[in-house]
Amino acid sequence: MRMNSKCLNFFVVLGLAACASSGAPAAPEVAAPAEAAPEPAPAPSSALSFTSAQADRGRDVFRSVCTTCHYSEEFNDQIFKRSWRRSSAGDLYDFIATSMPEDAPGSLPPTQYADIIAYFLQMNGFDPGSMELPADADALKALSLAPLGN
Ligand code: HEC
Repeated sequence: MRMNSKCLNFFVVLGLAACASSGAPAAPEVAAPAEAAPEPAPAPSSALSFTSAQADRGRDVFRSVCTTCHYSEEFNDQIFKRSWRRSSAGDLYDFIATSMPEDAPGSLPPTQYADIIAYFLQMNGFDPGSMELPADADALKALSLAPLGN
């Protein structure tokens, strides 16, 4: 008798719990905002991107200017990743634009330095997007190179 009523209580509690959970308002059916932004452009302010055309231009500049001293593999190997994963694309841009090519620092137009950064990002597995990387160190500071650590 006692056992039975304990069992009963147990099931009642279970039943209530089940009830409570199934009765909980199904959360995230929040209606999509009626005036959602027109689709493809991903939030331009939050995500800097580069295009694959830009990365291709960067590769061409790299090949004509940088390969007298560097191999492209130097810029996606473990040493490179370790050196830059705590920095931003802006830091890398600053470094390259002010120190490279070593025999003529700062001699390229800013857009070509940005193109080279795009090339490096692509070599390191960053996905190209729909906007070009700006030739603007401050803007590029918003783009963390932390994914290099993956
Ligand atoms: C005349 C030779 C020379 C040329 C040309 C040159 N570099 Fe360098 N670069 C060097 C030297 C030397 C270093 C220093 C190596 C060091 O101290 O780690 C270096 C270092 C670097 C580094 C830092 C290395 C790292 O792993 O963090 C980057 C990035 C870089 N160069 C990019 C470029 C780019 C991009 C170009 C073409 C625009 C270029 N370099 C052209 C000689 C050159």
